[in-house]
Amino acid sequence: MKFSELGLNDALLKAIKRSGFEEATPIQAETIPLALEGKDVIGQAQTGTGKTAAFGLPILQKLEKKKAIQAVIIEPTRELAIQTQEELFRLGRDEHAHVQVVYGGADIGRQIRSLKHTPAILVGTPGRLLDHLKRKTIDLSEVKTVVLDEADEMLDMGFIQDIESILNYSKNREQTLLFSATMPKPILRIGEKFMHDPEIVRIKAKELTADLIDQYFVRAKESEKFDIMCRLIDVQGPDLAVVFGRTKRRVDELTRGLQARGYNAAGIHGDLSQARRMSVLKRFREGKLDILVATDVAARGLDISGVTHVYNYDIPQDPDSYVHRIGRTGRAGQNGISVTFVTPNEIGYMRTIEQLTKKKMSPLRPPTDDQALHGQLKQAKAEIENLMNGDLGKYEDDANELLENYSALDLVSAFLKNLSKDASEVKVKITPEKPLPYKGNGRRNNHGRGRGRNDNRHYRGRNNNHRDHNRKDRNFRGRGNKHDFVIKKKD
Ligand SMILES: Nc1ncnc2c1ncn2[C@@H]1O[C@H](COP(=O)(O)OP(=O)(O)O)[C@@H](O)[C@H]1O
Ligand SMILES: [Mg+2]
Repeated sequence: MKFSELGLNDALLKAIKRSGFEEATPIQAETIPLALEGKDVIGQAQTGTGKTAAFGLPILQKLEKKKAIQAVIIEPTRELAIQTQEELFRLGRDEHAHVQVVYGGADIGRQIRSLKHTPAILVGTPGRLLDHLKRKTIDLSEVKTVVLDEADEMLDMGFIQDIESILNYSKNREQTLLFSATMPKPILRIGEKFMHDPEIVRIKAKELTADLIDQYFVRAKESEKFDIMCRLIDVQGPDLAVVFGRTKRRVDELTRGLQARGYNAAGIHGDLSQARRMSVLKRFREGKLDILVATDVAARGLDISGVTHVYNYDIPQDPDSYVHRIGRTGRAGQNGISVTFVTPNEIGYMRTIEQLTKKKMSPLRPPTDDQALHGQLKQAKAEIENLMNGDLGKYEDDANELLENYSALDLVSAFLKNLSKDASEVKVKITPEKPLPYKGNGRRNNHGRGRGRNDNRHYRGRNNNHRDHNRKDRNFRGRGNKHDFVIKKKD
């Protein structure tokens, strides 16, 4: 559907064009007209389908030229808050829309000072927004629209009460919008409690995993995984790869191991400072980093394009995470490859995942050392070809000197040796994590609910996995059957 058919004004259409969006995504096509009409909307569509613009464009269109906060957008994490602020700023640039972001961990004094300039749109994480409300450093009396974005994620992170408080602070609002990748019951209950006769738009998840992503699995023992992954990276030669690890320790160790073997890798997880995570992501987006190692939470919802390969070093704890993880690749119509490592007693998890995605993963045989070296040399040769395009004039004298002393063959061989990293020369030891014990239907025995927290906590000297396991029943409610949950579908 064309953006021009949705009732958006020319300035926004121009900004959309500048952003390179050609067509509205289904969630945008369905929700933008409703939101423009002033209706309350619950929008469900998978990650990466453009939900930000779906609520952002109508909000921008309705802004009035006055000094008052007119819209509040609540986001689960700092990264998503910043990303949303940036996208709305970009889309509203022509009309000088003032969009500010507030989140925890940043200096509140500075936030308060900039809030004195009164943004038209305020994006923030729940805790920090509440903090400002309690300090009366923001005034929501003229807010028209409140958005709960990535609502399932906020539920996972235990923000429901904060959100309810914020909604109670903004009683004058005319419109409430709720967006989420999944729609567990507690989220719908918020909808019922705080929204007026909401229109529910549900875009069925489709072809996310179906056509564009080639999904493989490698059966391997825990102790073999790292070497196999390195060889796979050598053979597959990803442009940009994301490696997922189950715990923060995993991410740290994998990152160090990959770096030790000469790969251009860096890691992100919840214990790293905000500044550090942002700088890693920035380098990755700019292509200055080849491999991003991440936990689920650190990577979920982040918008990274151009990822060619996803390696699930640890099989995800629940099928939804799997879908989110491999959704990092195969975006925007491009092909992607995912490889999932499965230890012998995790095969049951793999089957559960396959039931959800309705697609079987193909077995992949670990490459041999020879194949890996061959892969490396192929890349080295491509690199040399690149180098040949540069101006090499000023090296001629020294090159001649070397050629007098060595044969061309030896020189080139040495050069190739230097360009390819003989991975097996560097021993890397990754602390074993207990494999996930599989107990029947993984969806119900799902440990994934703890995800959000898990990533933000310190488990010094403990086995995360074990701990996670103990919490499962306490924390697991209402999510198991969400795929059976049928919401009124818009015609
Ligand atoms: N209509 C569109 N066409 C192309 N890209 C789009 C479109 N709408 C949004 N995008 C881009 O897609 C990416 C994902 O959008 P985002 O709003 O973060 O997805 P979601 O919130 O659904 O996970 C962003 O880079 C965004 O700029
Ligand atoms: Mg989003």
